[in-house]
Amino acid sequence: MEEVEQQKVNKKVLYSAVQPTNALTIGNYIGAIKNMVAMQDEYTCFFAIANMHAITVRQVPAQLRQKTLSLLALYMACGLDPNRCTLYVQSHVPCHAELAWVLNTFTYVGEMERMTQFKDKSAKHADNINMGLMDYPVLMAADILLYKTDVVPVGIDQRQHLEICRDIAIRFNNIYSPTFVVPEGVYPKVGAKIGDLLDPSKKMSKSAENANGTIFMDDDRDTIIRKFKRAVTDSDSEVRYDPENKPGVSNLLSIYTAFSGKSIEEAEREFAGRGYGDFKLAVGEAVADKLAPVQSEQARLLSDKEYLNSVLKAGAERAYKVASSTLSKVYRKIGFYQL
Ligand code: TYM
Repeated sequence: MEEVEQQKVNKKVLYSAVQPTNALTIGNYIGAIKNMVAMQDEYTCFFAIANMHAITVRQVPAQLRQKTLSLLALYMACGLDPNRCTLYVQSHVPCHAELAWVLNTFTYVGEMERMTQFKDKSAKHADNINMGLMDYPVLMAADILLYKTDVVPVGIDQRQHLEICRDIAIRFNNIYSPTFVVPEGVYPKVGAKIGDLLDPSKKMSKSAENANGTIFMDDDRDTIIRKFKRAVTDSDSEVRYDPENKPGVSNLLSIYTAFSGKSIEEAEREFAGRGYGDFKLAVGEAVADKLAPVQSEQARLLSDKEYLNSVLKAGAERAYKVASSTLSKVYRKIGFYQL
């Protein structure tokens, strides 16, 4: 039996990816990376560094190169282990672009025009509404479908992309015969959408206009504590999880539970009768305590480029094996003449 098929018999497949753009935020960590780490042994995992998605917005080439390696080191510093999962760079496996082209012919322009992220990014980058920006979800569908993926842990902002991926897979399977596994999105119960500290109705984002609302994974302790001190709360003084009426406090509680390992109820009890000042300081300290060892491990890993390259080489080879077998199945089904 083929290695891939063998893997499928033993474990379900999990796929996720992060773009190597700007510095990552604790939103990326809580919404995606933390879950990826927690699930890496239960599933056969593929984790990509989505540099092809990154270029849908103009990047400085030297920075994109540097951030690619830096994201690999961050993945590993957060606990993804290249001996237990496949870590690779998207552009190292040409099947992604190849399958995306085929899937383009099974995707309607109207569907892509309706995508919220496309509309948001078009407004933000009005001078560069390129085809890639519009095609972003199709490339993402190709990523996922190439690996016969069962589950995709992502933040809630990716739900629409997951839905269109499922639609494309089902459409293809109905026209031909079952070819793609139809994947499920997995969203964290708490923290699927971490809000900006200054405006919790907005997603915490790598590219926010005001960096004081965003905690970056490479922020130092003082910066983290200072940013939490300024976080918006409300005129009340009760630390209670109620996203509708207390969005700021609830956002801080989500962050606190993700970093302290405590439940929402435990956290509410811990801060009962104490003011927001104490609470915000405790959230800042929990985040800073957790990020400090991640940052030093990331720096240590980045000092050994040769080792990181070897991880990426092995990852690309493993990924290619699976991806190329799916691609050749697709090519056969659609009638591409094969030698
Ligand atoms: P990216 O780099 O924008 O985001 C990476 C992951 O972080 C999650 N995320 C958040 N979660 C909670 N709160 C937030 N404030 C927050 N901000 C970001 C995102 O939901 C995502 O899970 N398009 C993907 C990258 C990708 C991908 C894929 C993902 C490319 N191909 C295939 C899954 C499967 C993205 O948004 O990256």
